[in-house]
Amino acid sequence: MERGNFGSKIGAVLASAGSAVGLGNIWRFPMECGSNGGAAFILIYLLCVFFLAMPVMVAEFVIGRSSRSNAVGSYRVLAPGKPWVVSGFMGVLAGFLVLSYYSVVAGWTLDYTFESLTGSLMSESDFGRFFSDFVSNPWRPVIFLSLFLLLTHCVVATGVEKGIERYSKIMMPMLLVIILILAGFSMFMPNAIEGVRFLLTPDFSKVTKDVVLSAMGQAFFSLSVGMGTLATYASYFNKETKLLPSAIGVCTIDTLVAISAGFIIFPAVFSVGVSADSGPGLVFITLPYVFQEAFGSVPVFEYAFSGLFYILLLLAALTSSISMHEISTAYIHETFKLSRPKAATIVTVICLVMGVACSLSFGVWKDVTVMGRGFFDLFDFITAKFLMPLGGLLICTFVGWDMNKKLVAAELDSRFTSLLMILFSWVAPIGIGIIFVYGLISG
Ligand code: ALA
Repeated sequence: MERGNFGSKIGAVLASAGSAVGLGNIWRFPMECGSNGGAAFILIYLLCVFFLAMPVMVAEFVIGRSSRSNAVGSYRVLAPGKPWVVSGFMGVLAGFLVLSYYSVVAGWTLDYTFESLTGSLMSESDFGRFFSDFVSNPWRPVIFLSLFLLLTHCVVATGVEKGIERYSKIMMPMLLVIILILAGFSMFMPNAIEGVRFLLTPDFSKVTKDVVLSAMGQAFFSLSVGMGTLATYASYFNKETKLLPSAIGVCTIDTLVAISAGFIIFPAVFSVGVSADSGPGLVFITLPYVFQEAFGSVPVFEYAFSGLFYILLLLAALTSSISMHEISTAYIHETFKLSRPKAATIVTVICLVMGVACSLSFGVWKDVTVMGRGFFDLFDFITAKFLMPLGGLLICTFVGWDMNKKLVAAELDSRFTSLLMILFSWVAPIGIGIIFVYGLISG
């Protein structure tokens, strides 16, 4: 079967960075950072990104490009008859689960974009009540989640070069520009210096086992590693794309966006005196207060500033959701020989059904629990604490210990190959393994 290709090196890097940069950076990173003590969390997060998640990313690139196949097919090409293929199936499952609950938050973002631009969000006086009324409504979040999934579906069904690469090339640079403008606005708010201190002065007394676990989970989630997303994208890389520099580029962009998101949110949060550990509500409840406080006297600025922010969040979510959709679409398309649009439709419909269950878990189904968790929390728990770390561990171990060494070296084509082999074989599997076991114990 003829495979698509990213037409350029920069397109490949931007598409991978687009997969990484998303709600994880702008919604989840500030939430985790705020709940886990600020600067100390950031330091541990950075260690997890560069010593654990980045090796997994390079390993995924090696697997994807050398096999030129999907998350499952790649193991059938590289290690026929061996059990590594289980890691591919775990990736496909993780892709379905993450996309389902991710679309819920992306749907909230879509709604907030409309509400901001039409001015109705800013006419509210209690954003906490507004948020909880909205997420617990049985219809409205479901409609927006469906619209978001439809948007994702249309890009994925269009195909690799026409769809994913073209949209990433436009959206990623736009996103970076909007982030810098917003961080600039935030840093000049009164008392913003407190937020900057929170981000830059580590308090190690707050570092617990949970903080380390959260940092590692955040690194995997944010970089989209451990589920075969980037292996799938790398199968579309051309031979000229350098894998290590591309991974360093993606990790750097992703980290800069996350930290910049911190610099958008925390100076503003401290400026208006709200709590840094407001949890999932940090972006959706707190920021409208911030926009109001900052621009209340000039309503048109208020609409524009908040509209810009939620558009940014939406674009970031879309480039990530596309990649999670692609894991399963590529698998179904290539394994069952269905057309891309048909394969994409199957994925969209399954994610829609699971996404509706996640959305309803904030309202009418809040008492429906499995293992003590509603569907939204359950899917987040299974993916971030189980499938992604275990997937990452298997991916690194496969490349470090079982994959043909000459093939790995040829794909890496780098003077740092020996160092990378140590990271694949020892550092990443042991580091991830320890944190993964802790994760299971603390369950
Ligand atoms: N990596 C994606 C994000 O950060 C899932 O949103």
